[in-house]
Amino acid sequence: MLLFSRKHSNAVMSMKIIVLGDLHYPREGKLFHQFLDLIKKENIDLILLCGDILNYGNVQYLRVFLSKIHKRTEAKIIAVMGNHDFWLSKNMIRRGLNSWNLIDVYRGVFKEYGDFPLWDKELIVDDIGFAGVPGWYDYSFADWKFRMNRYILDSGYYMGYQWNDFIFTRFNMKVEDILEIHLKNLRNQLDRLRKSNVEKVVVLLHFVPLREFIKIRNIKEDFWNAYLGSEKLGSEILKYSDIVRYVFFGHTDKRNLSRKALRVNWIYFINVDVSHNLSNMFIFYF
Ligand SMILES: [Fe+2]
Repeated sequence: MLLFSRKHSNAVMSMKIIVLGDLHYPREGKLFHQFLDLIKKENIDLILLCGDILNYGNVQYLRVFLSKIHKRTEAKIIAVMGNHDFWLSKNMIRRGLNSWNLIDVYRGVFKEYGDFPLWDKELIVDDIGFAGVPGWYDYSFADWKFRMNRYILDSGYYMGYQWNDFIFTRFNMKVEDILEIHLKNLRNQLDRLRKSNVEKVVVLLHFVPLREFIKIRNIKEDFWNAYLGSEKLGSEILKYSDIVRYVFFGHTDKRNLSRKALRVNWIYFINVDVSHNLSNMFIFYF
């Protein structure tokens, strides 16, 4: 699908793109206002959002979020959802909604503003392909040397803390099966982009795609690594090294990661979780 084109005669001008994840609107109010100030000043063509757009799935918040951005910039938004975006309110659960239903809800609202959430369809803007899915975790980053088992991981309850996805999401399937649906969608998008002869592709994810980013501290807190992402995301993307140039992801930042960026083959994997600092965003011309 072609979102828009900036082609002027035969020349394709490079686009100024800002990439960030984890704004958690409206939780991080100050951060969001810093972001709004920035996009008003900078002449941005595209905003890429790597999930956790909202703190939980809420249509009204999403409309406010998008309208505040569009008041300040002409830039279009391309986004993937994050785990927080799949969190259901009590009211939604009462109405029988599950987390999968939120994909269509988000898609509808983004469409109202001329924006594009990536899920099962890729996108081409000028000569750049965009593919993306949130991804999920399959415990491939879990550190099994701690006293844990599958039951503890699936409960998300450890040392008095709770991994909230198990309280607020309803996917009604095992984590590996959730991830598999995301991987299939990503593969299909990348296959179609390859066939369309696009030479450069940007992939958006929410979850961590490579084990190399996981920080092992040999402390009990390493338990939470289980929920950071999956090595299957990275290995799938590396099969498309001929076209993929950038992979952006959020969900966690350098507090829990060993590095901000890594190049594998010709692909740059870059973390852009801004939930603790807006400077972790990435601005580039492409
Ligand atoms: Fe997240």
